[in-house]
Parts: sequence; C-alpha cells; structure tokens
Amino acid sequence: MKIAISGKGGVGKTLVAGILARMFASDGFKVLAIDNDSAMNLSYTLGIDEKTKAQIVPIKEMKSMIEERTVVKGAGSGVYNINPNVSDIPDKYKVSGPDGLQLLVLGGIEEPATGCLCPENALIRTLLYNLFVKRDEVVIVDFEAGIEHLGRGTAKGIDVMLVVTEPSQKSLDLCKKIIELSKKLGVINIYLIANKITDESEKEIINQKIKDWEIPLYHTIPFDPEIGKADLEGNSPIDFNSDSKAILSLKSLFHKLKILKSELFDL
Ligand SMILES: Nc1ncnc2c1ncn2[C@@H]1O[C@H](COP(=O)(O)OP(=O)(O)OP(=O)(O)O)[C@@H](O)[C@H]1O
Ligand SMILES: [Mg+2]
Repeated sequence: MKIAISGKGGVGKTLVAGILARMFASDGFKVLAIDNDSAMNLSYTLGIDEKTKAQIVPIKEMKSMIEERTVVKGAGSGVYNINPNVSDIPDKYKVSGPDGLQLLVLGGIEEPATGCLCPENALIRTLLYNLFVKRDEVVIVDFEAGIEHLGRGTAKGIDVMLVVTEPSQKSLDLCKKIIELSKKLGVINIYLIANKITDESEKEIINQKIKDWEIPLYHTIPFDPEIGKADLEGNSPIDFNSDSKAILSLKSLFHKLKILKSELFDL
C-alpha cells in the first residue's frame, strides 16, 4: 500500500507519516518511508540514530549521480533525459531505522511558477513514480506542503492520500485544493485528518465547514504537549512517550488503515 501525506506547512504531516511508518514496521510490515519535503526532518520523527542520520545525503543533492543518469550523450547542454533509469536508487541509497523500517530521503521538488525543468526534478519525479508503482512495500511519503509537483503518472500509484489539517480556515482551504487536485489526478482513496484538536467544539466547527465536501473527516488527533517535548529533545514522539494521547490516536488511525489495506488488497 502506498500512502501519501499532504497538507499545509506545520499541520503535522511529518508526525503522521513518521509515526504511521513506525507502527506499520513494528507490526511486521516491510516499510519504506520517503522524505519528499525540503526541510527533510522525517528522520527525527522516525527515530533514526545519529550516526545514520549524519550519513544521509538527499537524492536531490547527488549532483554527479543525477547528471550521470540524465545526461544525453552527444546532445548539447540543456538537453537531458526526462525519464532516467532510477529502479536501483531506492535500494542503493535507503538507510535503516527502528523496527526494521527503511528511509529514503529525496529532498523537496522546487518548482518555480515558470515550471523548472531541471534534471533533479525530473529524476525525483521519475523516482516517485517508480516508488508508487513498482515497489511492493508499505511506502509512506511525507510530501512538501503543496502537491503541485504531482503528475497524473505519479499520482496513479497512490493508494491512500491522507490530507492533514489543523483547526484553521487557511489550512482547510489548502486541503480543499489538495483534495480537488488529487481527485483530478485519479486518486480514489482520499482521507481528511484533523490534527492538534483541543476540544470537541473544534471538531464540530471543522465538520460544519466541510459539510459540503465529498470527503468527511476520517480521523482526529488531539493537541498533545508531549509531541512538542519530544521535538525539543530531538526524539521520536513514539520513543519519547508511546502512551501519549496523540500517539494513541495515531495507533487507532493505523488500525483503520490496516483494515483498509486488507479491504483493498486481500482477496
Ligand atoms: N498533535 C500535536 N500536538 C502538539 N503539537 C503537535 C502535534 N502535531 C504536530 N505538532 C507540532 O507541530 C509542529 C509541526 O509538526 P510537523 O513537523 O509534523 O508538521 P509538518 O506538516 O510536517 O510541517 P512542515 O510543513 O514544516 O514539514 C511540530 O513542532 C510538532 O511538534
Ligand atoms: Mg514536515
């Protein structure tokens, strides 16, 4: 199952991606977590050890590898292969984390309004397609704040799109755009998740605001000071306090997704 996490900046995408990856892995699934955010902090939430973390080089920064894969021999500069061979990259550059999970750090796709056709973007896009369509693990992708870089081909392989919101109109506005774009790209299973909820009234207001949406609120995660404390320590929140209320809520989200996975894939 390929799970993509999206939403506005700071809403909790990395928390959801990282903790779900840990839970699938500790339940015995083969997990490949993908950091596709330019801030590249998924490794903290996953609880990757310091030594491993220090060795990570984001794919996007591997200039010579990218050049080698995308260069078209004999062509002039500015001409490059937009469909490079990437199938060996995940296994070559992934690192290991707790519970046997694997992490591949891509880095973000910077796409200016003019539409940057740079080789590194082409390689990352091809790589995402490869990860979504060709891999057989549970693949969990922590996306950049927008999903504009998703193309039809890439989105085709996403089995579940989790759109994360916090209790704010701005965040909900972006979720609406993400949901519309995901639908247009052919993603079928799209779920809205509200994070940092402090009380029942916030949940009610969100439900009221989305009442005309085709997608209901699938899950809510409470605001939990333990998450911030773990961040301050540089620890994974699940290692810091595995019984905190946000982690328990993520556990119930994990169980829902596990049921969904068997509905989608087990005959
Ligand atoms: N349920 C929660 N309770 C309390 N704090 C939270 C909760 N979820 C996330 N946070 C805090 O909110 C901040 C943003 O969380 P996170 O990094 O997961 O979001 P993000 O969407 O990945 O952000 P970015 O867009 O910067 O990558 C972090 O400081 C985190 O500690
Ligand atoms: Mg993040």
